[in-house]
Amino acid sequence: MSTNFQASALRAIIVRKRTEYERKSGAGPVPRERDMEMKMKTDYGLMKMQLESLSEGVEWDITILSNASALLWDSLEDINWAGFYIMRNGRLELGPFQGKTACTVIEAGKGVCGTAVLEDRTQLVPDVHFFPGHIACDSASNSEIVVPLHRNGEVYGVIDIDSPFKERFTEDDRQGLETFAAALETIIA
Ligand code: SME
Repeated sequence: MSTNFQASALRAIIVRKRTEYERKSGAGPVPRERDMEMKMKTDYGLMKMQLESLSEGVEWDITILSNASALLWDSLEDINWAGFYIMRNGRLELGPFQGKTACTVIEAGKGVCGTAVLEDRTQLVPDVHFFPGHIACDSASNSEIVVPLHRNGEVYGVIDIDSPFKERFTEDDRQGLETFAAALETIIA
């Protein structure tokens, strides 16, 4: 038997077993491993340019953040939620987003988003199940990245992105999203 044949036979068995498990358990699709070799890196430079061009002449934050959430959604692979929580009355409230319906209010210090606010720094969470107090809006989420946004020297809100894959977000994503956040801050200043 050739090695190629063996490999494809093995793959077929894995796919069959996984499908069988998904059907029997009723738990829904099991997240596949991300095949890093097949993945394109997100072009954060391009995203920044697109954001700037989409926001030209736009005044209302909500309009800017709405298009920004669509841009995040379209540009990052393997995510199931991308959007914003905005500070209102000392807590985070749901802003423009793409994905399934989400929790509407998050207190500062709670969950990944509230922790990003309290510590005023990016939270890169490889596995949300190990993050104390993680708020599960969508049970499909397995990893998450949250980046704080500022206006007038204060935390204005956060960018929040979820993925069904563990360890989806890398240092590249952290850097890229912090650059994206800085561009947004300039636009909404
Ligand atoms: N997981 C977040 C809550 C927001 S949802 O992911 C959209 C948290 O723990 O703060």
